[in-house]
Amino acid sequence: MKYQRPPGPRDRRFGFSIVGEMRRRYLDFWQETHRSHGDAVYMRLMGRDLYAFAHPSLIREVLVEKAKSFVRYERFIEVHAQLHGRSVLIAEGEEWRQQRRLLQPSFSNKQFDLYAGQIVEAARESLERLPTEVPLDFEHAMNMLTIDVVLRTMFGSRVEHDTAEIEKAVRWWSQISFSEMAMPMTLPDWLPLPGKAKKRWAMAVLNDFITSQIRRRRAEGAKQDDFLGTLLALPADEGADGQGSDRLARDQSMAVFLAGHSTTATSLCWAAWALAKHADVRERVLREIDEVLGQRAPTFADMARLPYVDQVVKETLRLYSPATGVIARRATEDVQIGEWLVPKGSLVSILSFVVHRDERWFPDPLRFDPERFNAEASEQMTRGSYFPFGLGPRVCMGNNLASMEIKMALALLLQRYSLSPAPGQGEPGLLMHTTMRPAGGMQLVLSKRAGRPDLQLATPVGTHAPSGRCPVHTAPGP
Ligand code: HEM
Repeated sequence: MKYQRPPGPRDRRFGFSIVGEMRRRYLDFWQETHRSHGDAVYMRLMGRDLYAFAHPSLIREVLVEKAKSFVRYERFIEVHAQLHGRSVLIAEGEEWRQQRRLLQPSFSNKQFDLYAGQIVEAARESLERLPTEVPLDFEHAMNMLTIDVVLRTMFGSRVEHDTAEIEKAVRWWSQISFSEMAMPMTLPDWLPLPGKAKKRWAMAVLNDFITSQIRRRRAEGAKQDDFLGTLLALPADEGADGQGSDRLARDQSMAVFLAGHSTTATSLCWAAWALAKHADVRERVLREIDEVLGQRAPTFADMARLPYVDQVVKETLRLYSPATGVIARRATEDVQIGEWLVPKGSLVSILSFVVHRDERWFPDPLRFDPERFNAEASEQMTRGSYFPFGLGPRVCMGNNLASMEIKMALALLLQRYSLSPAPGQGEPGLLMHTTMRPAGGMQLVLSKRAGRPDLQLATPVGTHAPSGRCPVHTAPGP
């Protein structure tokens, strides 16, 4: 077979200029490259072949039909293994299959009545504390809410303090790990570089946090049938490399904590932004919520009765796909993708952001339009053109949980408050780290909806001092 390469940018400096551009302006870089070179792009970066695909049928070949010819991109594995060893997010082969099987029951629909109740409790407590009629750091508020949801649904605990320090650690880890992944190797962490001090601090905070969850559960002694309980019930010599169940529990918990909360928080930010901006969409969402729920809390069964809210969430995940940078693979053998023969060892990047904003699949792509996901339009959608949670065997394990959480939190938010951008808050830019966040955060103003019951206010959140320390941690800041 002939190795035919797609077109792509050339870089006489071994790819260093391209990597620099990707790190500085990841999203613009890929959109411009797609415009100039098309749906399949080739480039040579630091001695390695990189193929990037932005066409639904090529993407389905990589992620679904020929998934067996690929593993995760090894820089993703090397970088993330520093924090969660060999979790389900990075394991491969038989080890990965076993881990998915072990964790699957925690993500099955059978759990969803229980999870719905836990999400409602977490959301109510978070939302009731939000200050009104003042600019609110909405990203912080949503992070606090989604951290609480992961704690309740996966770890059987809850947020008992401000999460500002954990959020900061996640933000730094997300930024540093994304940047490290673009480089061919990781420099030792002991080097006296400013980024390394931040990284050591972030890892210490996150390790302390997850370890404290495990220690607490061990101390409680009572068996529980949830995600963490399943892991802690394994015999001590089970797990990756026979390292024991605490190590396995730590790795899996860290992976699910990282994969599960900031993606969801960011989605809630973008959904709230879209609703604050688009009065027509907001009115329709409010009508549906008021008709179906009135003032009662949503349940799992209600999810099927809120089709327009569902469309809004899907459109949010199209336009602002929060995990767009993580879908990358390495070819383990020569493999034909479309008309291209991708050689063994090549890196393959899947550009969900580009596909989701391509007018061939989504006309007038920058317009926020939930009608793209009504029943009829969904049936006509090109297969492989919409995949915020990935596709194929490695599809996100928390996809249904995340969708339910976003819908419930939005419903509870809108039952109580109307939203508007804070004075001076312009259209937020897109900041690409491991998740796609609003650059500079997002300031919104909440106002109580007329005729809604007064809410019990505890300590207001979202107006926290950035230096606020979280009492469960001992790690000093850099
Ligand atoms: C809006 C929210 C979320 C988005 C957009 C999202 C997206 C993704 C994406 C794109 C992947 C990678 C797929 C691939 O490599 O092909 C992934 C993997 C994963 N996600 Fe999510 N995710 C979200 C929420 C969650 C939640 C709430 C959890 C758990 C509580 C979770 C757990 C996982 C796990 C365990 C994996 C690894 C699956 C594997 O490698 O087999 N995610 N997610």
